[in-house]
Amino acid sequence: MIVAEDLWVKFGSKEVLKGLNIEIPEGRTTVILGKSGIGKSVLLKCILGLLQPVSGRIFIDGSEFLSAGKAQKKQMTACIGMLLQNGALFDSMNVEENIAFPLAYHKKAPPAEIRRKVLEYAELVGIQDSLHLMPKDLSGGMRRKVALARAIMLQPRYLFYDEPTTGLDPTSSAIVEILIRQLKEQLDITTLVVTHDIDLVAFLGEDVALLDEGKILYKQTREEAFREDSPIYRSFIASRKRIQNEQGFTND
Ligand SMILES: Nc1ncnc2c1ncn2[C@@H]1O[C@H](COP(=O)(O)OP(=O)(O)O)[C@@H](O)[C@H]1O
Ligand SMILES: [Mg+2]
Repeated sequence: MIVAEDLWVKFGSKEVLKGLNIEIPEGRTTVILGKSGIGKSVLLKCILGLLQPVSGRIFIDGSEFLSAGKAQKKQMTACIGMLLQNGALFDSMNVEENIAFPLAYHKKAPPAEIRRKVLEYAELVGIQDSLHLMPKDLSGGMRRKVALARAIMLQPRYLFYDEPTTGLDPTSSAIVEILIRQLKEQLDITTLVVTHDIDLVAFLGEDVALLDEGKILYKQTREEAFREDSPIYRSFIASRKRIQNEQGFTND
């Protein structure tokens, strides 16, 4: 389980997180909803040790993370994989090298073993025929698949997704949604997704939390969150649905 307690993050005089609390229970998919610029990526960066909060505590499997030393932090976050916003890839490496990177970088396995794992995970996400291609030759959906295969190379127990469907067309979004669910179930990965995409929540979320005003204002099960009288529905889902309808989408 990952627990964040009373997290405060400031940039200059701008307070982004203001006493945020959340629990990410094992074996479930937690989706944090929040509008653009509200602090979703900042929260993920804090848990990964990429950004130091002003104050607060983060527990990863019971051990306090923020007060740990550098080497200890690296060890503690080794169980967490991350799919970056936009599924960023290394442009100078082909698909195979991109997927292999985490294992090659950490020198965790001999080359033949790395190649075997690359093939296994490439097949799992359906890109085994594209290993020789360069990122510039891939569609947005394909890039996400490569990024997903790379994210699971170190066999994380937790996987964080930062806006996994943003910028994708509806078909690619649906494929990515299915893959995230499949990886969670097949590899038993505790999943944390941050997004403003309510379709993603409807498909993937087991627990839904709303980030606003620097805090997790509400956390509910998906069933609760989608009831029209729930606080998450009223303060977020309803307005998103209205926007979708105005744009001519129907999701019901
Ligand atoms: N390194 C940084 N320096 C200054 N401001 C930042 C930095 N990172 C994020 N912010 C600001 O913090 C706020 C939250 O950012 P972010 O977490 O990226 O939002 P989002 O919810 O869209 O992921 C934004 O106003 C952003 O401009
Ligand atoms: Mg973000």
